[in-house]
Amino acid sequence: MNNGREQWATKMGFILAAVGSAVGLGNIWRFSYVTGDSGGAAFLLIYVLCIFLVGLPVLLAEFSIGRRGQSDVVGSFNNIAPGKPWVIGGVLGVLTSFLILSFYGVIAGWVVYFLYSYLTGAAGAVEQGGYADFFVNFIGGATGPVFWQFFFMAVVIAIVFFGVKKGIELSNRIFMPLLALILIVLAGYSLTLDGAGEGLRFLFTPDWSAFGDPSVYSAAVGQAFFTLSLGMGAMITYASYLPKETKLPNAAGGVVVLDTLFAIVAGIMIFPAVFTFGLDPASGPGLIFITLPEVFAQMGTGGTVFAILFFFLVAIAALSSAISLLEVSVSYLMRKMNWKRQQATIIAGVVVTLFGIPSALSQGGPLTFTLFDLPFLDLVDTITDKYTLPLGGLFIALFVGWGWNQVDALKETGLTDSIIGMIWLWFIRIIAPAGILWILFLNIF
Ligand code: TRP
Repeated sequence: MNNGREQWATKMGFILAAVGSAVGLGNIWRFSYVTGDSGGAAFLLIYVLCIFLVGLPVLLAEFSIGRRGQSDVVGSFNNIAPGKPWVIGGVLGVLTSFLILSFYGVIAGWVVYFLYSYLTGAAGAVEQGGYADFFVNFIGGATGPVFWQFFFMAVVIAIVFFGVKKGIELSNRIFMPLLALILIVLAGYSLTLDGAGEGLRFLFTPDWSAFGDPSVYSAAVGQAFFTLSLGMGAMITYASYLPKETKLPNAAGGVVVLDTLFAIVAGIMIFPAVFTFGLDPASGPGLIFITLPEVFAQMGTGGTVFAILFFFLVAIAALSSAISLLEVSVSYLMRKMNWKRQQATIIAGVVVTLFGIPSALSQGGPLTFTLFDLPFLDLVDTITDKYTLPLGGLFIALFVGWGWNQVDALKETGLTDSIIGMIWLWFIRIIAPAGILWILFLNIF
């Protein structure tokens, strides 16, 4: 049946890998700065609603397409609906995963550089108030960002090289529990700080006026797609390595709950510290690179230990997500070009890393790449976050809701004749597409 296609060794291995894909820079770096910028609790509430109303149904849709299609993202659409235009959703997915990985590797490289600088003592020696310069000097450099991007991507390529079981599954079985442990220790420490109450209020007590601001909704949907790795076939690809017995709704529910918990606990780790030391939660993408190092510096000697744990945590989380992004292209190339895994991994990995160089060099400094007045990295981030991810998600939802035979779609999820199955179908037919269309509209105009 599976023509010798690779498969996960265990169901748990698949869930951990899917959680590994979902939990990444999105939950820590991106979640914390978007939440900080969007005013805290009101955003969090809308975000959680989006996760359950749009994210969960679309995730289950991706799982069903992948498992039924038994192929990469393009091949899966083609297998289920041969000759139909739905496959555009798959092609869009390969392109988007390529674009995201190109800048994801750059930001992950920054994280690894911070980890390295804390290990060597260089970051710990920066004077208080000096971290903005420390960060800006680094990302504006001509060689540093590229070096660390290459370093990170080399590790990603090495893991994908070893395949589904020995590379992806094994690494996630080690990383995910470790990640949860470090995160809980750090969050527990944050709760003992003086500003814990204020931090928690920022995160959990909504300012009702924020609900009138459309940009909060668009940020919430964008964040929901990004954090669940939706809209471009990473989850389709991972589900294609599943055997027929696995229950997809349980797996989807597990991934959504764990991913959301990781984000909320990351918030509990970050905001109390930010308030305790009187820093600004709305300081944008530099939040974990400038604000948190200030926090670590003010903690005294223990701060360096926390900093090392923290950046190690973020690096591991980024690694398991980057793996899933690369796997989308690798599995596509293996089928399309008839390449071996090793060959596909090296070629796709090297090309995407090279394409990331303009992003690595776009943050100030002598060689700054800009296009349409935006630094290249921000441009690629905006294109994917605002347009291609939601568009990919729309294709997926419409395909499962309207393009695919309803009986088959329900059968694949094991939800035939159940209320949950009907609810899911209507969410995927109406609610999710309507929500996505509205956001696309807001983003375009
Ligand atoms: N979800 C990951 C994160 O939160 C990033 C990621 C991995 C991703 N694969 C993806 C985002 C696919 C969008 C689409 O960091």
